[in-house]
Amino acid sequence: MATTREAEARWIRLCRADEIGEAQSRGFDPDDEGQDSLFVVRRHGQLHGWRNACPHIGGAPMAWRRDAYLNADGTRIVCHAHGAEFVPDTGLCVQGPCRGERLSRLELVVIDGELFVKS
Ligand code: FES
Repeated sequence: MATTREAEARWIRLCRADEIGEAQSRGFDPDDEGQDSLFVVRRHGQLHGWRNACPHIGGAPMAWRRDAYLNADGTRIVCHAHGAEFVPDTGLCVQGPCRGERLSRLELVVIDGELFVKS
């Protein structure tokens, strides 16, 4: 039997999956909060969804400009505030003030080429 939280979970359409290319990132504001609450990166062909909340200072937004969550070669997620670097497919911080902590993963699914996130 599903818990109340599971029963309340819903899938929200974000975009077409192929709009996010290899080593690219994109932020989303599915709840119309006025700033992106989550972002998606593609690494080694796989899409990964993360809350836009740095573990160094809980809730701090990470992009230095819209959709800019990755370093220049797309190998690390970078928090603009203090330079923490995260592995794109695990969310593990490998460099910076929150080394050893992780981003919060979001569940993604692609159906008929459309990308959805579980709220
Ligand atoms: S808030 Fe992200 S590194 Fe400090």
